[in-house]
Amino acid sequence: MNQIILRKPDDMHIHLRQGGLLENVLEQTVKQVARAIVMPNTAPAIETVNALTAYRQEINESLKRINSKAGKQYTFEPLMTFKVGPHMTAQTIKELKAAGATAGKIYPQGVTTNSEEGVKDFKALYPIYEAMSNENLVLCIHGEIPSAFCIDREKEFLPIFKQIAKDFPKLKIVLEHLTTSAAVELVEESPKNVAGTLTVHHLLTTLDDIIGGSLRPHLFCKPLPKHSSDKENLRRAAVSGNPKFFLGSDSAPHLVENKECDCGAAGVYSAPVLLPLLIDIFQQENKLDKLESFTSQFGAEFYNLPLNQETMALTQNTWTVPDKMHGIVPFFAGQKLKWKVVES
Ligand code: NCD
Ligand code: ZN
Repeated sequence: MNQIILRKPDDMHIHLRQGGLLENVLEQTVKQVARAIVMPNTAPAIETVNALTAYRQEINESLKRINSKAGKQYTFEPLMTFKVGPHMTAQTIKELKAAGATAGKIYPQGVTTNSEEGVKDFKALYPIYEAMSNENLVLCIHGEIPSAFCIDREKEFLPIFKQIAKDFPKLKIVLEHLTTSAAVELVEESPKNVAGTLTVHHLLTTLDDIIGGSLRPHLFCKPLPKHSSDKENLRRAAVSGNPKFFLGSDSAPHLVENKECDCGAAGVYSAPVLLPLLIDIFQQENKLDKLESFTSQFGAEFYNLPLNQETMALTQNTWTVPDKMHGIVPFFAGQKLKWKVVES
């Protein structure tokens, strides 16, 4: 088998950034995905109708420039999100929905990049969950307790998550970028309103890869990858064919100088290598037949979106991932990959 044709994927968690960086990273994404849930942790964060509209416009204008520069017609729909905060009212939620928001995102305070103003009291947000439920907005949660010991942060968040899901049975909730066996189990046991996203880097790395030998800043991300047994369970979930698990890459680019320094930023830039690595993983697990549902069906169905009609092709054609791309060190930099995206 030399070629794989896939329904064009949806990436249900991505960081596209702003300004010049946005155009460069978006170019990598539009070659591989048709839609993406765009994270709101820009600076400043997306919290208002005006900010959401302006960010969507910035993304769409970047897309136009990418297409005219390349003489291509990539289609890409940014699925916009806003950062949920205690100051929001049911009216703001309504307006955000009317402006085209797909989901709201919760960042616990201080947990990750640009989350200083994040949530401290999850119960205080109950009126907002209610409003989001009424508006059919999806709630995306970065599920970590920032004050817990670093590798226990996700595990300690799970009871809070469980309670929210129980109290809001009509609210669709995504536990994002799962990293532990316990989180996989919780999503499996939860009712239908709950799903979990999986990143490609958490299917391929453990904490050992980041700090077990030399310090590898470009693999450092939040939540931290954990033990190899966790990784195995994440891989099992990804290839299971269970519609509660779908792709959310959490591709999170940072310029090399912001990674290779004291106080380096968290985030793995996986967008350029997303599909080639996913094919490898599903092949290794002997579950290539489950790839398309994971990348291109279950996410759309959870979000009540039509399936993408466009397809993409990948061929077996060994290539070396560049050491650096537009000032960023991508995931698998300098390494050889077997599958290559055919640029249409
Ligand atoms: C993300 C970023 O850089 O914006 N970083 C990360 O390590 N995943 C934020 C996030 O999703 O936690
Ligand atoms: Zn993220």
